[in-house]
Amino acid sequence: MRVTVLNGVNLGMLGIREPDVYGTLTHAELTQRIQAWAGERGQRAEVRQTDSEGEYVQAIHAACGEADAVIVNPGAWTHYSWAIRDALAIVPVPVVEVHLSEPLEREPWRHHSVVADVASARFAGMGADGYRAALDWLQERAA
Ligand code: DQA
Repeated sequence: MRVTVLNGVNLGMLGIREPDVYGTLTHAELTQRIQAWAGERGQRAEVRQTDSEGEYVQAIHAACGEADAVIVNPGAWTHYSWAIRDALAIVPVPVVEVHLSEPLEREPWRHHSVVADVASARFAGMGADGYRAALDWLQERAA
């Protein structure tokens, strides 16, 4: 199973960014973990991060022909990017929404996710382990 993992805006600053909220793992370390977890499950994960909304949309388009599943953490775009939501609606394979923190327990503006209705599952508030849970969910779904 080929899994495309798309991390969005500001997630490249993990490790420095609000460690009390997001933990101390850098994005490079997170990527290594995700790839190791995927490997243990017989999956192959491609992990990408961008701060450009257009690039994020293009990466979603590319995943349409390449991936068997897509895991997205769009960062703050989660809460307002209808362009990303519309791009995810095109994806013909399962989409899983992941957040390191639990947006529902934070400021009210984080409570709404515009991508929730195009995702088949959601894991939040588990830190990096949310990605592992998403990989497990995809593996179980495919079994
Ligand atoms: C986030 C939660 C969002 O509200 C926030 O804007 C982020 C990260 C998370 O992983 O917890 O950038 O998606």
